[in-house]
Amino acid sequence: MNLDVLNTIARRMVEPGKGILAADESTGTMGKRMDAIGVENTEDNRRDYREMMFRSDEAMSKYISGVILFDETLRQKAADGTPLVKIIEQAGAVPGIKVDKGAKPLAGYEDETITEGLDGLRERLQEYHGLGARFAKWRAVINIDEDIPTWNAVKSNAHALARYAALCQENGLVPIVEPEVLMDGDHDILRCEEVTSWVLNTTFAELFEAGVALEGMVLKPNMVISGKKCPEQAGVDEVAERTVKTLKSCVPAAVPGIAFLSGGQSDEDATAHLDAMNKIGGLPWSLTFSYGRALQAAPQKAWSGKAENVATAQAAFTKRARMNGLASLGEWKPELETVSA
Ligand code: 13P
Repeated sequence: MNLDVLNTIARRMVEPGKGILAADESTGTMGKRMDAIGVENTEDNRRDYREMMFRSDEAMSKYISGVILFDETLRQKAADGTPLVKIIEQAGAVPGIKVDKGAKPLAGYEDETITEGLDGLRERLQEYHGLGARFAKWRAVINIDEDIPTWNAVKSNAHALARYAALCQENGLVPIVEPEVLMDGDHDILRCEEVTSWVLNTTFAELFEAGVALEGMVLKPNMVISGKKCPEQAGVDEVAERTVKTLKSCVPAAVPGIAFLSGGQSDEDATAHLDAMNKIGGLPWSLTFSYGRALQAAPQKAWSGKAENVATAQAAFTKRARMNGLASLGEWKPELETVSA
């Protein structure tokens, strides 16, 4: 393992003022997104949509440090024949790849999942590196309900994350370690804090046992937040304070950066929360975004599958990227949202 190389890539991914675009939706998930805007889920439409974002010069060069791709996109060419990976690199962003094979039912444990994809992963990572990927992503999913998560779900998912991360580092890719505690459910913010802290502590224990170098990884956690159906929704300051407190107690300072998932928050909430955390300041790691929905909902709607909407969609994407770039510096203000894109 060349830790200097990994550390340099990891620091680029969390460079202040920039963050990661999670554009790694599987073909099935893209189907749902395309359905919502009345567009057929074909390979060409997925390509056109993603090309629209990757060719948003201002967003990509100023606010996006890296892009997480799905296998199909890593191999895809733009309409003019340029590989999409090249377009991302030319904008100055790092291409990455989702390598897990999804969260599957955990045998014997209702409503819990284990993320699969370890078999043959070494060979796939070697191929992905050859195709230009310099980081990878693996998402573990932890569900909260009255009697879950169980220790088995927490431990098994943390163990798989650690095996994945060690394989990435062996093959020259920075692992994004993503243990996502879902915000579905009616639990309050305290319950989210308790489970997030348990999951993070277990994950870092497993990373240690697997020999993963913390300087060569990026953590992608959920924020500590009220369940979506909880009648009492914690405000921006409480989310920021509890998230920072939890991360400080669980995430070693050797980790170069933490890039949050948006997890179903509204676009503006995801920005406001990140901004409030960076305004607290004095943090040992960079805190930025690795958003999927909170970066793409607006451009997806604006695009709606029509070539004549590309410029408007790019403006919508650039606006969300800029707002989140400011939030990564703690320099965002709600008034900026009302200024048109
Ligand atoms: P969201 O920001 O939509 O949660 O997606 C981020 C991601 O990559 C989930 O794995």
